[in-house]
Amino acid sequence: MRKPVFAANWKMNHGPQDTRAFLTRFLAVYPPRDDRTVIVLPPAVSLAVAGFALRDRPDVQLGVQSIHWEDKGAFTGETSAPMARDCGATVALVGHSERRQLFGETDDMTARKCAAAVRAGLTPLLCVGERIEERDRGITLAVVLRQVKAGLSRLDKSHIASMAIAYEPVWAIGTGKTARPEDATIVHTAIRRHLREVITSRAEDVAILYGGSVTAENAAELLAAPEVNGLLVGSASLDADTWARIAST
Ligand code: 13P
Repeated sequence: MRKPVFAANWKMNHGPQDTRAFLTRFLAVYPPRDDRTVIVLPPAVSLAVAGFALRDRPDVQLGVQSIHWEDKGAFTGETSAPMARDCGATVALVGHSERRQLFGETDDMTARKCAAAVRAGLTPLLCVGERIEERDRGITLAVVLRQVKAGLSRLDKSHIASMAIAYEPVWAIGTGKTARPEDATIVHTAIRRHLREVITSRAEDVAILYGGSVTAENAAELLAAPEVNGLLVGSASLDADTWARIAST
């Protein structure tokens, strides 16, 4: 059985000192449990500190927020998948809408980044989601499925079966506007249907997370929606006690 996934995307928050303090507190208030997967995604400069802090807690996985599609080279400012792996990361977020919107990340780049993650032994967590004008035009599913297909395009079936996907409607990110659970289910169901076409019964192994203004208050309702297998949380994951509450949903 696939376990629910709780992923904390800290975005550009929590440098090494804050990361150490956060994880000290979080590990103290969140005892290990094997019925779920918990992932924290600090900024790249805090990965090594986080990897060290988590060395005795294999129940909490470490993820990198963005990787380059090449393994090394002249790419100033970038982080490679092998470097993140070296810090202890096991997961790579790919295609977050902030990367797509603010840093020009294209579907082709997300495809290459998913492949780079797999090459380095990282599990891709592919983010997809429509903008408000796309929702208003009624093309939500077309946009999301285009992003999913692109992200999977360079992966073989076994790697697709072990990855995770996060549906994050762009209009719900950082706005306090959460998708209704039934709207999330419609999109998650469409993603699952596509996965079944690609990897048949192993589609059930892929966790599909919802993200966008998740809080400790709405987490349970979202997680109870059909086909919602986890939560990808931004601002509400920045406080260790709040994150422990959400991860215990
Ligand atoms: P918020 O939870 O702050 O809306 O951010 C969601 C997100 O983008 C997680 O990746």
